[in-house]
Amino acid sequence: MSEKFAIISDIHSNLEALTTVLKDIEQRGIQRIYCLGDIVGYAANPKECLDLVIEKTENCVMGNHDYAVLFEPTNFNSGAEAATYWTRKVLEEEPDKEKAEKRWKYLGQQKMRWTMRTKLDGVDAQLDFVHASPRRPINEYIFPDDVYTTTGKIGALFDKVKHVCFVGHTHLPGVFLSEPDFYPPDELGWKYPIIPDEKAIINVGSVGQPRDRDSRTSYVFIESNVINFVRLEYDFKTTAAKIYAIPELDDFEGDRLADGR
Ligand SMILES: [Fe+2]
Repeated sequence: MSEKFAIISDIHSNLEALTTVLKDIEQRGIQRIYCLGDIVGYAANPKECLDLVIEKTENCVMGNHDYAVLFEPTNFNSGAEAATYWTRKVLEEEPDKEKAEKRWKYLGQQKMRWTMRTKLDGVDAQLDFVHASPRRPINEYIFPDDVYTTTGKIGALFDKVKHVCFVGHTHLPGVFLSEPDFYPPDELGWKYPIIPDEKAIINVGSVGQPRDRDSRTSYVFIESNVINFVRLEYDFKTTAAKIYAIPELDDFEGDRLADGR
């Protein structure tokens, strides 16, 4: 069986970005989608995004914003915290009890990590899926600058990686290698081949709130043994207008979408 699948992350209730990505995935003939969490938080369509992720993805792990809506926001800034409480309220006030229960159950059942052992174009691969980091799967940030400023941290993280680990969380797409080094997708021609004996931590970027000064939505798909980074324009003005229309959501969460920050 030839492997072909997509990985999405950090949707953050952004319906316009999510539907743009799902359409692109469908047009490529990709059937399998995995999700790295943070389905909700920040934007205005938590219910719709949850329903689509439940319907379209095969496997998801828990992100810190999903955790926050279920339990409590920890170390959140005021905008993120406000979005958490608003999201919880929207999910709790759903009049359709069956739908409400399905969404809560889905969020509550998320794993912190999962692993897939597979063959990609003849390459034996172990793929780990977490939201944040292989060491602290829900909350640890791995920033590109860490390869220069905290090399010990990168070394410790790679001790936890058997082969390839997919992450989201920082909303900054790219490839970490154990040297340590970091490559943004454009420096790699938007492709990274999975090869034997080279460990990598792959950040797939964020569907709903890119933060690399590029407003385009981000995801990856894997075909044979190659990870392909994708960026797509989407209607962020509509997403921002919905955020501005909800008093509980900080206007900054709308403003930042235009700049990708
Ligand atoms: Fe996130």
